[in-house]
Amino acid sequence: MALDLDRVVSSFQRTFGTLPTVVASAPGRVNLIGEHLDYNGGPVLPFAIERRTWIAAGAGTGYSLWSATLGGQPVRREPGPRRGGWTDYVLGVDRELRARHQAPEGARLAVVSDLPAGAGLSSSAALALAAAAALTALTGRRLDGDAAADAAYRAEHDYVGVRCGRMDQTVVAHATAGRALLLETDTGARREVPLGFRTWILPTGIDHSLADGGYNARRAECERALEICRRPLPALPALAGLEPEALSEVMAELPPPLDRRVRHVVTETARTRRAAAALDRGDLAEVGRLMVEGHESLRDDYQCSVAQADALVEAALQHGALGARLTGAGWGGSVIMLAPEAVGERAAAAACEHLARRFGPAPQPWSTGAAAGMRLDLMP
Ligand code: GLA
Repeated sequence: MALDLDRVVSSFQRTFGTLPTVVASAPGRVNLIGEHLDYNGGPVLPFAIERRTWIAAGAGTGYSLWSATLGGQPVRREPGPRRGGWTDYVLGVDRELRARHQAPEGARLAVVSDLPAGAGLSSSAALALAAAAALTALTGRRLDGDAAADAAYRAEHDYVGVRCGRMDQTVVAHATAGRALLLETDTGARREVPLGFRTWILPTGIDHSLADGGYNARRAECERALEICRRPLPALPALAGLEPEALSEVMAELPPPLDRRVRHVVTETARTRRAAAALDRGDLAEVGRLMVEGHESLRDDYQCSVAQADALVEAALQHGALGARLTGAGWGGSVIMLAPEAVGERAAAAACEHLARRFGPAPQPWSTGAAAGMRLDLMP
């Protein structure tokens, strides 16, 4: 489905009977590697994908929201407590902007998206960042990438109540086409890494919602593990700061399953740095190997995979992929696959057919390169 300015503008016009003054859009993301490290002070390596959420906006009183693709009947909301559902992300952003005196008095917003929700592709960050850009533009200002990422992060973390890290919002705000972003989550340092090839997204067909609890539970386990690690190592800033050489010693002190969680964090930190270096020199075979190791670590140590993702990874490798792994938080969502161009489409189709035979119908695979981040498509 090709989404463009015309579609979101006509969607706004049909709903509100007038033209919008602003259009903003923001992409989803995949994480190539570096999973569950952004709240453990480690490096992550995501990139923005070619599917986006678009918001057309005009001035209004209160918030009139309409979505063509996120489950939508027109909704009217006033600032106030969260209610559950997609409109909370917009209201959470509004609350942040209000605190900074950067919110319009109200707005009419039409949202269209070709980004599936619940697929582990950060549809929530795309929605929040597009909202941040559109609402600020209604006040005649422009929000810079850091401020927009911060408002979107606080909306999701503080208002919606998912104790996420900052990876998704940062890459959605700052991504450049043809590049992945190596983000050091302890310092916030960012470095662009070349990613000029296409990758495949293989949906598991299992919707996940971060508000469901598994994610927050893992985060709490990491916090407990950090406390225990700090007994012998009081200066340890975060779990990703553990040296690999110290791992076996530390693991002996940790009760299960905290030992496995820490092993994931420490080994994934090393893999992510190696993957960034491999991308720099164009060594895709090494990137693929690291992705597979990363998947095994999510499956066995972080224990956030699902049988459907394991089956997709295994089948993709059997059909010639260089690597494949669960991407995003887990408990469903999507697998990202890397394959030589000549076999990518066939390997993706074969892996998804295998999935369908074992578990029943699932969405089709699709490919994406690295896209650009949040932008204003129409300014007042
Ligand atoms: C979700 C969160 C991110 C990150 C990933 C796991 O996408 O929103 O902050 O923790 O899970 O890497």
